[in-house]
Amino acid sequence: MKTPDDFLISFPMRTNYMYGRVKKTLMQEIFAFTLCLWIKPGMGPGLGTPFSYSAPGQSNEIVLIEWGNNPIELLIDDQSVTLPLSLTDGKWHHVCVAWSTRDGHWEAYQDGVQRGSGVNLSSWHSIKPGGVFILGQEQDTLGGRFDATQSFMGEMSEVQLWSHVLSFSDIHSLASCGSHLQGDVFAWTEAEVELHGGVTRHPYDPCH
Ligand SMILES: *[C@@H]1O[C@H](CO)[C@@H](O)[C@H](O)[C@H]1NC(C)=O
Repeated sequence: MKTPDDFLISFPMRTNYMYGRVKKTLMQEIFAFTLCLWIKPGMGPGLGTPFSYSAPGQSNEIVLIEWGNNPIELLIDDQSVTLPLSLTDGKWHHVCVAWSTRDGHWEAYQDGVQRGSGVNLSSWHSIKPGGVFILGQEQDTLGGRFDATQSFMGEMSEVQLWSHVLSFSDIHSLASCGSHLQGDVFAWTEAEVELHGGVTRHPYDPCH
């Protein structure tokens, strides 16, 4: 059954003014997270920036970016790792990245399968509260200073953030549409995602 929360947002071209903004912020620091989304990138080169979180004093607190011909990277507190994901075949993919302050352990999943993991990514850091969650753009200041060359083009849906590391089976069931887990930091609802600059919303259920 379709609900108002079955939707995608579409970025028809690369600009420095089209973006989505999650109305919620982070209310307190967190020591781990899992970010999941469904994504269908448009034409390259590069994915651009599907997701960024800037915090007061650190514009690159959490960034998922593929800039130009560089590989996909996850940045935390401006430190980066390369993610072994391949998303540019024109199809929908389910992506999750998880991180924990403990040893800076990270994991990357594509379509419910773990593609990579590692340690020492901003170990013992905490994700700072009071920042801005932006979809489709990389932020050089809190909520702004976007760069068209780093912008996302394509479609995304079900972008959600948890304040803990999801289990392998939770991620697998999200990717195979076996569950409707809701992010505790933010979930995917029309009321929570604000669209700017010509980003459009369309009915879509990635699990149809
Ligand atoms: C992570 O950092 C610790 C402390 O600096 C170091 O001992 C360890 O070898 C590093 N591990 C990896 C896999 O880089």
